[in-house]
Amino acid sequence: MSNRLPSTGLARDEVLAALESMRGADVDWRSGRCFSLVFDGGEDVRDVARAAHDLYLSENALNTNAFPSLARMQADVVGIVADLLHGDDATAGFMTSGGTESILVAVKAAKERARIERGVTEPEMVLARSAHAAFHKAAHDFGVAARVVPVRDDWRADVDAIEASVNDRTVLVVASAPQYPQGVVDPVPEIAAIAQSVGANCHVDACMGGFVLPFAQRLGVDVAPWDFRVDGVTSISADVHKLGYSPKGASVIVHRTRDLRRYQTFVFDDWLGGLYASPNLLGTRPAGPIAAAWAVLHYLGEEGYLRLTRVTLDATARLLDGIRSIPQLALVGEPDAHIVCFGAADPGSLDVFVLGDALASKGWFFDRQTGPESLHATVSAGNAPMIERLVDDLRTLAAGAGGTRTNRRDTDYATLE
Ligand SMILES: Cc1ncc(COP(=O)(O)O)c(C=O)c1O
Repeated sequence: MSNRLPSTGLARDEVLAALESMRGADVDWRSGRCFSLVFDGGEDVRDVARAAHDLYLSENALNTNAFPSLARMQADVVGIVADLLHGDDATAGFMTSGGTESILVAVKAAKERARIERGVTEPEMVLARSAHAAFHKAAHDFGVAARVVPVRDDWRADVDAIEASVNDRTVLVVASAPQYPQGVVDPVPEIAAIAQSVGANCHVDACMGGFVLPFAQRLGVDVAPWDFRVDGVTSISADVHKLGYSPKGASVIVHRTRDLRRYQTFVFDDWLGGLYASPNLLGTRPAGPIAAAWAVLHYLGEEGYLRLTRVTLDATARLLDGIRSIPQLALVGEPDAHIVCFGAADPGSLDVFVLGDALASKGWFFDRQTGPESLHATVSAGNAPMIERLVDDLRTLAAGAGGTRTNRRDTDYATLE
């Protein structure tokens, strides 16, 4: 196999065997040892998703006049999510390819709204240091200045700093439910009120929490207000392809009203190719992830999500307890849901990234964070059976970890430049 097109095609079995062989070096998420990137609801959920995805392997969601079933499925998925977020009859949204695209279009919609309704020509957004990097991508790509404020000691966005940073150019104020790095939910009511006071949008990034917090609340967990029940929240993103347990390529952005949603859509009617209207960043859009998301939501139902959320939160609690019992480790923040961030109790005697390397050599996968240096676990149902083994390995490795770190991150990014 090479990176040249073969002069004659290979046999199907040969092609598939080559793929099987290539993925031998990939992280084995099926083992429950991967705490990032893949969120596994179980073989039965994957089976439904796979079959639905297969049915829509070739269809194109660019034009739903050709594929009305895709319009129907997207409306259903958005409706289900809007309901979970306590939207009402006015609430309207779109499916996107993932959290990043939902965030990009949220920023774009906020910028457009402020330009049209308030005449803002030098737009700014206010966001905490904990807000997802996709907001910075949007700021860069769409020409919105990012005014970054600190987080408080509990890692939640500093509301006083947000208040001091808004002005008549502010088009968007960001809140996260929860934020990715430490897994805490920002003070959404206060943030939304500040956004409202200057006529700006308030986007709640619930890409991580959108399929956890609503079910956690139904299970009796005390969840701080964060969804459309909070005045001033104008849009929310929730990823079906994270804790919604659907395969990659499915997120939802929901706007409080259809009028607010309008600012997301690009319409162009002066093209020789005809009218072009698109609310997404993509043109041609894969239909498989839409069908799979629709299928998984209907397969699991409320009962299925309550079960998976209970399993996830229980696993998270066991991991938190385990880390608390290891003297060399310290939690970074007290998470509100299913994210666990931990570092060295004494960074002088334990290099947490060397610990990360030692864990990786045993098949565990964690994201690495800085400020402070820490390991990050997004816990989901597929990790639950492995928590005790992880805590055992953490205890042993934290007691003995030494040596030099392998700087995997730099190696990865080198391939992108
Ligand atoms: C809070 C939050 N927002 C946005 C994103 C971006 O989502 P995606 O990777 O699907 O683009 C993530 C990803 O982990 C996230 O945790």
